[in-house]
Amino acid sequence: MEQETYLSKEEIIHWLKEKDANKLASLYARADKLTRKLFGTKVFFRGIIEFGNSCNKNCYYCGIRKGNEKIFRYLMPKKEIVETALWAYSQGYGSVVLQSGEIDNEKRVELILEVIKEIKKKTNLRITLSLGELLKESYLEFFKAGADRYLLRIETANKSLYEKLHPEGHSFDNRIECVQNLKSIGYQVGTGVMIGLPFQTIEDLAEDILFFKKLDIDMIGMGPFIPNEETPLFSQKQYCMKEDMFQLSLKMIALCRLYLKDVNISATTALQALNRKGREIALSSGANIIMPIITPLKYRQNYLLYPNKPCLDETAEMCKSCIENRIKSVNKNIAYNEPGDPLHFLNNGKIND
Ligand code: 5AD
Ligand code: SF4
Repeated sequence: MEQETYLSKEEIIHWLKEKDANKLASLYARADKLTRKLFGTKVFFRGIIEFGNSCNKNCYYCGIRKGNEKIFRYLMPKKEIVETALWAYSQGYGSVVLQSGEIDNEKRVELILEVIKEIKKKTNLRITLSLGELLKESYLEFFKAGADRYLLRIETANKSLYEKLHPEGHSFDNRIECVQNLKSIGYQVGTGVMIGLPFQTIEDLAEDILFFKKLDIDMIGMGPFIPNEETPLFSQKQYCMKEDMFQLSLKMIALCRLYLKDVNISATTALQALNRKGREIALSSGANIIMPIITPLKYRQNYLLYPNKPCLDETAEMCKSCIENRIKSVNKNIAYNEPGDPLHFLNNGKIND
């Protein structure tokens, strides 16, 4: 494979500050070229099942934080979670993501174990978990039961910024330790940050990308911070960078592709909250993953981490055909029935270029 040299931190910062549209188009084209070299025209599909919205945490930015008393809390029954995953399988999805707020008790661990075992018994879907910071023993039990991947965003690599965004008892160090535990168990591990947070700087974002490499991450999911009126961080929104957040997010995706190379990068739903074509634009600027929401419709209104979340009233079927068309519009196609394991994981962290 043609040699792609690594960007330096200074170059990353330079690109994050770049305003010239032509120069930016060349950055996106470069990231797209590398993405196509690695994955061809394939976009991998993961169906997200937001199976419960109760959370023991109180992150200052999130709509389902414990302190938000305005939302109705739900937990999908085990049978319905499994049925939703089986539907995804029947539709050719290679993988499902089981996502919920952070609930750390035995009953929940039991539920997850049963769901994993049942799905694995009936399908060869890859199972990704996104359940927050749990005990290493729980991560290990899930892995042994058949879970393949875990998503845990670090939100920012800047510890003092992390502390501004979270109340007491939310530990940056513990979060990083969780990511390391997941890696050491053998999961394919995904992380990410929010882009454009209050008090965040361009240098912070460059550090985030370097930190992903240091953690040897396999998968990246990042999106713009979207102030949510129902949360305490809303009152700090004047301290956000005065940048075009959509462009800044695209730059981050392209730079992650060029710096981390063989990782999976997702075109996140939050991008589409800022631009109608957000996800497909991301898929032509370095992203190679799309995660349609397949949560049954009746629950979706209650899983609002941020406002303007797209696809709230589209059924999973509608979501699928809408996304198919979006992907075709950028000359890519969905890799049905393929697991789409991150090359970074398969290459064991060694890039063959
Ligand atoms: N804007 C954008 N992303 C958010 N998340 C939570 N709240 C917001 C918001 N207001 C993201 C966090 C979390 C993921 C599940 O959703 O990064 O890890
Ligand atoms: Fe809970 Fe995650 Fe929201 Fe924090 S970001 S309140 S841990 S769901």
